[in-house]
Amino acid sequence: MAKVIDGKRFAEGLRARIATAVKALKAEHGLTPGLAVVLVGEDPASKVYVANKARQTAEVGMNSWEHKLAASTPEKELLALIDRLNRDPAVHGILVQLPLPKQIDSTKVLDALDPAKDVDGFHVVNAGRLATGQEALVACTPVGAVMLAKDVLGKLDGLEAVVIGRSNIVGKPVAQLLLKENCTVTIAHSRTKDLPGVVRRGDLVIAAVGRPEMVKGDWIKPGACVIDVGINRIERDGKARLVGDCDFASCEKVAGSITPVPGGVGPMTIACLLRNTVRAACALKGLPVPAL
Ligand SMILES: NC(=O)c1ccc[n+]([C@@H]2O[C@H](COP(=O)([O-])OP(=O)(O)OC[C@H]3O[C@@H](n4cnc5c(N)ncnc54)[C@H](OP(=O)(O)O)[C@@H]3O)[C@@H](O)[C@H]2O)c1
Repeated sequence: MAKVIDGKRFAEGLRARIATAVKALKAEHGLTPGLAVVLVGEDPASKVYVANKARQTAEVGMNSWEHKLAASTPEKELLALIDRLNRDPAVHGILVQLPLPKQIDSTKVLDALDPAKDVDGFHVVNAGRLATGQEALVACTPVGAVMLAKDVLGKLDGLEAVVIGRSNIVGKPVAQLLLKENCTVTIAHSRTKDLPGVVRRGDLVIAAVGRPEMVKGDWIKPGACVIDVGINRIERDGKARLVGDCDFASCEKVAGSITPVPGGVGPMTIACLLRNTVRAACALKGLPVPAL
């Protein structure tokens, strides 16, 4: 049976390291990293995410601001807020919670962020820096997924990595990060022929598809590491449940290690957001960026 990767525990450890780094930045440089989160509208899931982000930001000793705007907010008003946050020296990270209401063009909003404060790593400048091997703020879930893989496998050099999914927020950045770790990377997607055969090549499989329990145990190379990014809400036996993109029951019998859902990659996302905020604060102040 596969080793089950405890993302919750790893994320707790990362947050503890971040809290220590924040304490040192305050004591040695009078710098308190600060994260501003912008929520437009009343989407219930977004409200929960934003509240969790604010709570965990405060818990590691950083400044946290929540900007809650009405669902009817015109695009111009949101862009004006972003402009103010871009110019505010106390704010080192800005996160605009997606999705945005229909009247707002989210690409325009992401483009308006100062790339140096783009802690979600979605700005085209950060995506381009990552793709060209430059220092970048990288999307949080991909960073978290690769951290877990490195924790369990050590060096990833030379491994065959198969990423299922090519979205800008998960699949592509995860593939870039794995390339940086010297993996041989295959990116699979909805048009990939013989997906099970392609996945079976992977020493490391990262699933970011959004299809409940799609990846089966007989797709997995024996001993492979399986990182399941998927979060899918399903109903089973009359109960609401969260499941990943991998069929955990069959995959854990074949894999060497596997992340559960929930409790795998999920908890890493906010921890990596806090990490990005500390990194952004240090870079903006010209201080050495802690590895964390
Ligand atoms: N905090 C977190 O842990 C976190 C954060 C972000 C996302 N997620 C989860 O990760 C999953 C993926 O998110 P996303 O935003 O990347 O989704 P997305 O934008 O919908 O992208 C899904 C990708 O999967 C591919 N795909 C769809 N059906 C497929 C199939 N049958 N076979 C092979 N590939 C297929 C798509 O291919 P095409 O490009 O060809 O359409 C696409 O590239 C979701 O479950 C999401 O909830 C979790």
